[in-house]
Amino acid sequence: MAQTLRTDVVIVGAGPAGMLLSHLLEAEGIESIVVETRSQEYVASRIRAGILEHSSVELLTEAGLGARIEREGDEHRGIYLQWPHERHHLDFVDLTGRSVWVYGQTEVQKDLVAARSAAEQEIFYEAAEVTLHDLESERPAVTFTAGDEPVRIEARAVAGCDGSFGPCRAAVPDAVRQTWERVYPYSWLGVLADVAPSTDELIYAWHPDGFAMHSMRSATVSRLYLQVPNGTPVDQWSDDRIWQALATRLGHGQDGWELTPGPITDKSVLPMRSHVQTPMSHGSLFLAGDAAHIVPPTGAKGLNLAIADVALLAPALGALVRRGDEGPAQAYSDTALRRVWRCTHFSWWMTTMLHTSDDPFDAQLQLSQLHWLATSEAGRTGLAENYAGLPIGF
Ligand code: FAD
Ligand code: DHB
Repeated sequence: MAQTLRTDVVIVGAGPAGMLLSHLLEAEGIESIVVETRSQEYVASRIRAGILEHSSVELLTEAGLGARIEREGDEHRGIYLQWPHERHHLDFVDLTGRSVWVYGQTEVQKDLVAARSAAEQEIFYEAAEVTLHDLESERPAVTFTAGDEPVRIEARAVAGCDGSFGPCRAAVPDAVRQTWERVYPYSWLGVLADVAPSTDELIYAWHPDGFAMHSMRSATVSRLYLQVPNGTPVDQWSDDRIWQALATRLGHGQDGWELTPGPITDKSVLPMRSHVQTPMSHGSLFLAGDAAHIVPPTGAKGLNLAIADVALLAPALGALVRRGDEGPAQAYSDTALRRVWRCTHFSWWMTTMLHTSDDPFDAQLQLSQLHWLATSEAGRTGLAENYAGLPIGF
């Protein structure tokens, strides 16, 4: 016999979307139970995003999760955009009055886990055979096994926060769902290095050899990325080869700027795609974060979009569960998708402007756009507005 539990909302996935949703729901007076296939340690240690938009920081702060961002995060006014022999600073604060923060996803996840533990949030880690039921009814359920025990959770709604490989997005019937996808012909080789960043703010570099980016996690840890062909085995890139390519593409030696190498502690190859599935809700199922959409990483939107989705979803589920008011829940998909498509376009634009292809015509168009951004305040303001992030309810 399965153990049967009842709650207001079952949240599938304990990544940033799922954990933040449980936190925001509690503030709405709504109970939830989180179900996650991986262990708590595994979820906490995944090295992923590093930049929080202005609105994400505001939201996390209002939700009582801002203390460590304030203390340990690093507020940046803007970014550097560069191509050979040119480096231009775009000051988002001057252009839009909004800044961004360097604060790793691992840290966001730690803050969420600490807050949910303090609130005694019920979370099942290492759940197996997670299955959704009765999504078209007002009493949906999620079943799984915890250890060897079968568990069934019944609720008013299911939140699909299970990332791009989870079962929730596929639970929307084929006849209802529509997907859009763009696969890019390059990947990122990402490295984490125990060395002080060689720059005060992030550098996005166009180079004939391929894109490179210099980011960071703290005063002593740098995060760097190189464009590589799809399917590149990580062991093709020795540490020396990585530092040499970064130095070339980031402009070591130009105008006295130097890239300081250091010990590499993590190395991985990340493929890139854009993917949107609509609608973001069906019956009593609501998708949020990577479960509904993936963006290529250029422009740092993935984590911020997940945060924005659940900021919209929590009050919508609050109205549904507390008052039986279906209006906000029915509007959720359309409202969230406005921002999703804006970020999908921005990420595609940043990606295709900065990554080199075999086509010399593309390269000329890319350099023309970069020149325009460097010389036009209107161009810079558009980039800044999208990068620092539009208001949550945009
Ligand atoms: P996730 O973080 O994927 O969380 C989903 C959770 O659901 C996971 O814990 C997963 O284990 C769980 N789950 C899966 N299946 C099930 C199931 N059947 N039952 C229960 N739980 C399940 N974004 C940026 O902005 N900048 C970056 O540099 C960047 N780098 C990235 C690098 C990598 C390798 C990846 C994969 C993503 C990266 N992203 C980056 C994107 C960003 O990390 C994501 O957008 C963000 O994690 C989305 O949060 P989420 O909670 O929606 O999904
Ligand atoms: C990081 C990742 C990004 O995709 C980006 O645009 C900026 C920073 C990072 O991991 O630090």
